Amino acid sequence: MSETITTIKHVASPLARQTLLNDDLTRPVAGGRPIALLPWLHVVKIGGRSIMDRGRDAILPVVEEIRRILPEHRLLILTGAGIRARHLYSVGLDLGLPVGSLAPLAASEAGQNGHILASLLAPDGVSYVEHPTIASQLAVHLSAARAVVGSAFPPYHHHEFPTSRIPSHRADTGAFLLADALGAASLTIVEDVDGIHSTDPNGADGAAARLLPEITAADLAAHDGPLPVDRAFVEVLANARHITRVQLVNGLVPGRLTAALRGEHVGTMIHTGACRN
Ligand SMILES: Nc1ncnc2c1ncn2[C@@H]1O[C@H](COP(=O)(O)OP(=O)(O)OP(=O)(O)O)[C@@H](O)[C@H]1O
Ligand SMILES: [Mg+2]
Repeated sequence: MSETITTIKHVASPLARQTLLNDDLTRPVAGGRPIALLPWLHVVKIGGRSIMDRGRDAILPVVEEIRRILPEHRLLILTGAGIRARHLYSVGLDLGLPVGSLAPLAASEAGQNGHILASLLAPDGVSYVEHPTIASQLAVHLSAARAVVGSAFPPYHHHEFPTSRIPSHRADTGAFLLADALGAASLTIVEDVDGIHSTDPNGADGAAARLLPEITAADLAAHDGPLPVDRAFVEVLANARHITRVQLVNGLVPGRLTAALRGEHVGTMIHTGACRN
């Protein structure tokens, strides 16, 4: 009897008797590569501002392109928040709301865009699913349908880091974290530019902007000036476990998304810190 109690009390585990704060001690246990949960999954992030806010002229061709590619791929389509979140930030900041209050409000805007996209793809069996469903029931949903739509915003909400008054973990970060955690085959970010440029092609120095066909996460982190992706996204790329490359493509040009999903290089290829072998 006493032996049983002793065994239960002293559970054999390499992490049981050590702090989790010492990397040298945790690395032998936690340093291995995680399994890929859904290695056949392709994740697509649709820009809120760059695609959804443009309305039917931009959205309907993207919907048509997704519809055509469904027989080839099983997709998790994630939507960004767009202009309504920008408006919400300005009203909330003016009122003094903390970042942890702004994050869930902006996330709900990303969800609204997801609902819009899912409604348009409903005839093809596509529906909007909430984060808990993505976390625990994505496999069964994608066994019943070729694609589902969700919000690209990470659910940090009241736990959002107070590094900035504007939530730092936004749609690109959320899409990457999900794709990498699921061990997805690819992540494609769909915007209204041909890729990442040396400077904003729609900005004051737009005429001098050069398309960067390829860039490493480290070079992206060192890039001064505006980017079409969240800064936090650039930071998490360095710790990628599965996703080796993220491609940013122009959704306003028909065929680019399809080509990216087929593995062709059609936008900016961002090389992450992960290596696949
Ligand atoms: N270095 C850059 N290269 C390319 N585009 C850039 C760059 N810097 C800024 N941009 C701008 O970023 C714009 C896209 O904006 P943004 O990333 O905010 O949209 P989005 O991703 O659709 O928004 P959301 O985060 O709501 O989904 C492009 O239209 C372009 O003008
Ligand atoms: Mg963007």
